[in-house]
Amino acid sequence: MPAAALGTAEWYRHFGTVDAPGSSPCYADWSLHIADDPELIARIDQWPYNKRQPLLMLAAARFLGAKVSPYPEFRAFLDEHWAEVSRTVMSRATQTNEVGRCATLLPSLAAIAAAEGRPLALIEVGASAGLALFPDRYSYEFDDGVTVTRLGPGGCRERRGPDVSGGPPVGSDGLPEPPVLRCRTAGPVPLPVSLPEVVWRAGIDLNPLDVRNPDDVAWLEALIWPEQEFRRERLRRAIAVAREHPPLLVAGDLNEQLLPLAGQAPADAALVVFHSAVMGYVSTDGRARFRAAIQGLTHDRGCHWLSNEGETVIIQEDGSAVVPEMDPGRLRGNFLLLHNGQPVAITGPHGQSLDWL
Ligand SMILES: C[S@@+](CC[C@H](N)C(=O)[O-])C[C@H]1O[C@@H](n2cnc3c(N)ncnc32)[C@H](O)[C@@H]1O
Repeated sequence: MPAAALGTAEWYRHFGTVDAPGSSPCYADWSLHIADDPELIARIDQWPYNKRQPLLMLAAARFLGAKVSPYPEFRAFLDEHWAEVSRTVMSRATQTNEVGRCATLLPSLAAIAAAEGRPLALIEVGASAGLALFPDRYSYEFDDGVTVTRLGPGGCRERRGPDVSGGPPVGSDGLPEPPVLRCRTAGPVPLPVSLPEVVWRAGIDLNPLDVRNPDDVAWLEALIWPEQEFRRERLRRAIAVAREHPPLLVAGDLNEQLLPLAGQAPADAALVVFHSAVMGYVSTDGRARFRAAIQGLTHDRGCHWLSNEGETVIIQEDGSAVVPEMDPGRLRGNFLLLHNGQPVAITGPHGQSLDWL
């Protein structure tokens, strides 16, 4: 969501020039054409503002069967299915559950567990289907261009050289093969030697998605950008992992549910509250209240806070999104990871890169 209310055409143009290129040539092309299509913009403008979001409209069309195609074909699809597209847009929300983000959170989670000397209890706010609550169940490949570090539930191994073929050790116990989360690193990333232990996990979402519900799973797949088959594949694998023991997900607003849920976390575990790609959907006032609640939890419970969000919605102490020490050019199109309010890394929005500060 843009921080300031963009006009709809500008919003699609921004998506087509900033967000989509490099990830989805098809979405970039469709969005730019939509921005120049006043008749379609007028139809989109009949939806409430937060429903005009490009990714929501494009995902709704894909959910209903729109194929990667030149714009005129896509436009014809929209004309033919407009009533269903509208219904889907009104009944669904952008709830992309990007499991790749676990790769950018993992070093911080492992560092917290090591510093605390105890296992973790995780609360994710804005959890969608809760797939980021299983960082201990996935496999990772961190690549700094020279060294590839692999970590997985079956143990860890490290090897040098750019050849990463072969994949991590998986699946000997009959459990679902975990997704392999690949992440480019730069700077002094504190890569762990093993995965942290997680003894309790829970999430909060306005509308938790259920990994056992085929419709919810189809919507999660539709939210992935068309050309990114590798993301769909890792989503499917992560869903299979989550289905083994579906996480506790509480329906409701993060500000209302956080404290009661934190009260259920085991007292002998190190509590980490985290969120990715959520604060853009929360009002400025809601973000300020959330920050205050986290500060209370930090004080009373020694909780850690990991925030992985876009540059416009980072929550600073003074309520602003300005990070004085940060070059805004470096942040554009990326997320900033903060640990207890302090910037620690610039992260790729889908977890594809981790640039330690
Ligand atoms: C873009 S998704 C990101 C999901 C997940 N954090 C991830 O990184 O994969 C944002 C999620 O935040 C949830 N959300 C937005 N505002 C919320 C609020 N006030 N309270 C709880 N959840 C919220 C949405 O329902 C949605 O599932």
